[in-house]
Amino acid sequence: MDQLVIFDTTLRDGEQSPGCSMNLKEKIEIARCLERMKVDIIEAGFAISSPGDFESVKTIAETVKDCSVASLARASKLDIDTAWDAVKSAAAPRIHLFLATSPVHMQYKLKMTPEQVLETTFAMTAHAKKYCSDVEFSAEDATRSDWDFLVKIVDAAIRAGATTVNIPDTVGYTTPSEMRDLITYLREKVPDSDKAVFSVHCHNDLGMATANSLAGVLGGARQIECTVNGLGERAGNTALEEVVMAMRTRPGIYPYTTRIDATQIARTSRTVYNIIGQTAPLNKPIVGRNAFAHESGIHQHGVLANKETYEIMTPEALGIHTNNIVLGKHSGKHAVEERLKALGYNLTREELLSCFAEFKDLCDKKKNITDADLEAIAEHRIRADEDVEETGYRLNWFSLHTSNFTTATCTVSLEKDGEKFEDVRLGDGPIDAAFNAIDSIVKPVEHTFDIYNIHSVSQGKDTLGDVTVKLIADGRSYTGKGLSTDVMEASIIAYITAVNKLCAATAKKEE
Ligand code: KIV
Ligand code: ZN
Repeated sequence: MDQLVIFDTTLRDGEQSPGCSMNLKEKIEIARCLERMKVDIIEAGFAISSPGDFESVKTIAETVKDCSVASLARASKLDIDTAWDAVKSAAAPRIHLFLATSPVHMQYKLKMTPEQVLETTFAMTAHAKKYCSDVEFSAEDATRSDWDFLVKIVDAAIRAGATTVNIPDTVGYTTPSEMRDLITYLREKVPDSDKAVFSVHCHNDLGMATANSLAGVLGGARQIECTVNGLGERAGNTALEEVVMAMRTRPGIYPYTTRIDATQIARTSRTVYNIIGQTAPLNKPIVGRNAFAHESGIHQHGVLANKETYEIMTPEALGIHTNNIVLGKHSGKHAVEERLKALGYNLTREELLSCFAEFKDLCDKKKNITDADLEAIAEHRIRADEDVEETGYRLNWFSLHTSNFTTATCTVSLEKDGEKFEDVRLGDGPIDAAFNAIDSIVKPVEHTFDIYNIHSVSQGKDTLGDVTVKLIADGRSYTGKGLSTDVMEASIIAYITAVNKLCAATAKKEE
């Protein structure tokens, strides 16, 4: 069976989509998940796009050992030089340069003639090759390009030293049969096509990204570019979990292997959703909460008789462990530790103690603690920034008055370095009032809200509210998380955490 290359672009194309910006710590955490899941290549960012991106590509290149690390670059010397600077310390660096080849992009965006695009493809690929043996060239908007022009472009890229040529469906326009035919055509017509790996990079505007990528593979592509949870520009990119599981589930049709450890899929998906402050749509293939839920009587009956009646893959294959153990206030540290391990969390002693303390607090408010509750506790602990927590403001108490006939009022008491601060503010609703009161104490620099999101961790009235607040200031994002059965408390904690991070960054800049 052929082995396919899985190129993950969650940290580049995924991060490019609105509401998905991540800070360095979050990107490193995702890179670690990707390495554990054994993707072949991590596209860590677009080094020239900002100093923050450069820093994160470089740090990921220095951190990751078991995957190649790539940076995107436009087909220009400065972009390529910067990309190389960022990835050169990687165990296996890759430069990924791109240039658009469709008539509409060449005429209106690049303002270049096809001849200039052809020359630039050759010259810039050769320039990248001077630094790095592993060079990928992408013909942006390939699926709306003239096929014979693409033959010339791919030929030029290969002659200049590209080891991978990527055929992106940049605007999610192609169809499976067209994608298969295009890859087959290019592989037949390009003279030295066997000297490079053909790659597909599909967007999901018409909901066909997974089908188009797999069709490209049937046409001879041997690299799939994808993202965790299908994050990405507009409707997203091909979802990694979908292509991998399609190949595992239908090996007769897709006789290809990947290096991916599928038991890491659920955990990685959860981490990515947690970091961007979103949750999977319930019916999302592979990773949605309902992907393995059987509600109707007929289905339940069938699954009880034999799982294969309605299940084409098992939750265990994705690292989802269903269990009947109910944890509650009589459960000890060992039981909690074991359950967390089964859920894929190998925590340090300190993390475990802190999770156990939170677990015990929660037991006072809630009778049965579910796996989802435990996961939420662990995710919060892992993501906590101890330095900022220790030196920043902490919530003492809050008091809120709200009704549907008065203006909401919130009094907040915060503590920092042993000193107590109190203020009261009005607002357009309780959240606004609470955040105004915090602002009046902390006085953070000007910022905007990228995300304010409440998600219920499990079902039932006593569910934990998991709140994410993401602030943007000076082009950087600051995320705070709060977890409580009281959504106001969770919101206030999330906001204080985000504001503490913002203040710590401001103070660092002023030093
Ligand atoms: O969608 C696209 O064309 C891209 C390229 C930069 C590979 O993301
Ligand atoms: Zn893309």
